[in-house]
Amino acid sequence: MVFPTRRAFTKLVGGMMMGTALLTLAACGEKKEEQAAAPAPQEVNIYSSRHYDADKLLFAAFEEKTGILVNVIEGKDDELIERLRAEGQNSPADLLLAVDAGRLWRAQDAGVLQPVRSDVLEKKVPAAYREPEGHWFGLSARARIIIYNKEKVQPTDLARYEDLADPKWQGRLLIRSSTNIYNQSLVGSIVAADGPEQAEAWAQGVVKNFARPPQGGDIDQIKAVAAGEGDIAVSNTYYLARLLNSSNDAEKAEAEKVGVIFPNQGDRGAHVNISGAGVTKHAPHKDAAIKFLEFLTTAEAQQIFAEANYEFPVVDGIPAHPVVAAWGDFKRDSLNAAVYGRNNAEALKIMDRAGWK
Ligand SMILES: [Fe+2]
Repeated sequence: MVFPTRRAFTKLVGGMMMGTALLTLAACGEKKEEQAAAPAPQEVNIYSSRHYDADKLLFAAFEEKTGILVNVIEGKDDELIERLRAEGQNSPADLLLAVDAGRLWRAQDAGVLQPVRSDVLEKKVPAAYREPEGHWFGLSARARIIIYNKEKVQPTDLARYEDLADPKWQGRLLIRSSTNIYNQSLVGSIVAADGPEQAEAWAQGVVKNFARPPQGGDIDQIKAVAAGEGDIAVSNTYYLARLLNSSNDAEKAEAEKVGVIFPNQGDRGAHVNISGAGVTKHAPHKDAAIKFLEFLTTAEAQQIFAEANYEFPVVDGIPAHPVVAAWGDFKRDSLNAAVYGRNNAEALKIMDRAGWK
């Protein structure tokens, strides 16, 4: 037996390796053909700017129910919109999940969403909470309410958003910055209800009533009311519910010092905004994306929204979290949420001119 030289050995091994590699490729090819015959493993790719624990439960529940894998990339809204725009046709994203109709409208305006039709979504999501052409759908709702210090204010002292500009609240009002989309959408709704001139006069009055320059988020405003830094504040419902249900006794006590006013009950109703999603323009898995949206309107998913994040279900007949339900039924502004988006630029200008930091 003659041993091969090292060089020949290397060659031989190289040849063997190549053979192995080819065999593997051939096997892969066969496997691929097999897979093409069987249904391909499905997936849906989500870009999300919601950072709620509830969402992980929703993704897991969908995967379990459908076998469709959910891949999520989290980021800030404007970054995700920019990313979608930059990726264009090569984007792996199927869905953009975002908070506030104003932001979904921005995505639509940037051309990164496509209109979709779904009988399920059109039947289950109220018209006010979805974009009329199907560019996005609201999946949970939140009201922007007035809260007050129960020791200093009577719930009958104010009834409308318009009252926040009343000089009697001078130095007593707490509200976050105009850079916040929730406030931009609220002002957008006031532009729709009262016209731009009245909305601007209102914003000026509001700024004069500030107890301090805007700082922090909604929870900070609630805590400041409890601490006596101001007497009234504006907050989304779920923040107060979160504090009321807090495992931290001190936080709970703060939340219990404040009362809730659902504004404009005698006229258009309280400003309600949504958290929702739209199918991206170049979605590679459009059917799976619609399936996921439809899943989010099932009783199971709507309950997760309600229980885990204290949001209002958008689908009829699903109860809110008991902490939220305890505030009672209220009248909601029926204005289509897309209008907040359309009025966003004007709302920003109005707040800017009014000196709302
Ligand atoms: Fe929020």
